[in-house]
Amino acid sequence: MSKPGDESGPRDPYFVTLQAALTEAGIASPTLVIDKTRLNANIDTLMGQLPAGMAYRIVAKSLPSLDLISHIRKRSGSSRLMTFNQPMLNALTRAMPDADQLVGKPLPIGAARNYFAGLAAGDTQAAGQIQWLVDTPERLRQYQELASATGQNLRINIELDVGLHRGGMEAGDTLKTMLEALKKSAELTFTGFMGYEPHLAALPEALGWRERAKAGAWRRYGEALSQAADVFGADAVSNLVRNAAGSPTYRYYQTTEIANEISAGSCLVKPTHFDTPLLEAHQPASFIATPVIKSISRTRLPGLEFAADGQRAWDPNTLRTVFIYGGNWLADPVDPPGLSYNKTFGRSSNQEMLNGGHNLSIEPDEFVFFRPHQSEAVFLQFGDIAVFEDGRISARWPVFEASA
Ligand SMILES: Cc1ncc(COP(=O)(O)O)c(C=O)c1O
Repeated sequence: MSKPGDESGPRDPYFVTLQAALTEAGIASPTLVIDKTRLNANIDTLMGQLPAGMAYRIVAKSLPSLDLISHIRKRSGSSRLMTFNQPMLNALTRAMPDADQLVGKPLPIGAARNYFAGLAAGDTQAAGQIQWLVDTPERLRQYQELASATGQNLRINIELDVGLHRGGMEAGDTLKTMLEALKKSAELTFTGFMGYEPHLAALPEALGWRERAKAGAWRRYGEALSQAADVFGADAVSNLVRNAAGSPTYRYYQTTEIANEISAGSCLVKPTHFDTPLLEAHQPASFIATPVIKSISRTRLPGLEFAADGQRAWDPNTLRTVFIYGGNWLADPVDPPGLSYNKTFGRSSNQEMLNGGHNLSIEPDEFVFFRPHQSEAVFLQFGDIAVFEDGRISARWPVFEASA
């Protein structure tokens, strides 16, 4: 184990400007900030990478704010959404009745019932634009019963297992039976397939592992499409929704031979889990900003005061302490540079301790900035998003209610 060097240093001018904007806007509590200029650049990067004919589906759970989704819809020109829970499905049906919502996981039939029970008068037509995801013959039977009982026609998309092994169908007799049942049904309409494969980006490239898994995923997808063509005819299949990908894998789709739409959300705000070589062209566009409550020049740990000199001598990054407003988020501190959590003191949701080196210089009421690890749950913890644009906070965007 080598002795750590001091990582503290001057603040990044970008965060100094962001701090001034937050102060100017009167913000003084933990806040999720989106840099709109960077968000726009990320949307343009994504759209610019798609091959001709490839549609884009906006992953709502990773961008959990109606205003954020509206902005992305406008800039990307896409009205396709991928939605993951019943409350969000109802909220989006209400707010965006023209959107085509593909449900991103198979919802229990009870949740589908609750969706219809929660529909406002006048939303029935919009409800007809939902593609319900179905992963087994049993779930298909349940959705058929719901459609028969309510007289509501339902659109059905079948989840494929293309190698992630998180459930879903593979080509074979059972899939054929499901497709035939869909063809026969007066109330159900088959809209297409969804085959998600984020595991591909995580596999090593060495020895051709990733390429083999990718070829395997596309072979499985292709087999399901052939089976659909056998049942519905080739013409009908050319109109199907063939959904694939997520942020880590969307760039693999350089033709529309297998998929004709990709879904992605996180890469537009780029939390740290998406710092991958394939997403290098995307910029971090979301930060947690929180005020410093206390700034202390010497770190002292309760009951371990005698050990402080030794710890400092080994790791200069433990010299100074700040206590921040809130904490314990799924996030890493990024500015001022060189800050880290204190393993001995532990995490705190109330006043979290962060340590830094000799050059850490930050006063109470100034802001520490973090990058979230993921967007979906973290964005919901701070109230309205602060939108940073042209050096100021130009808008506040409410987020969805936290729900699974
Ligand atoms: C079915 C499905 N498609 C796509 C995505 C991609 O979302 P993101 O781009 O935010 O990673 C997810 C994420 O969980 C998913 O479950």
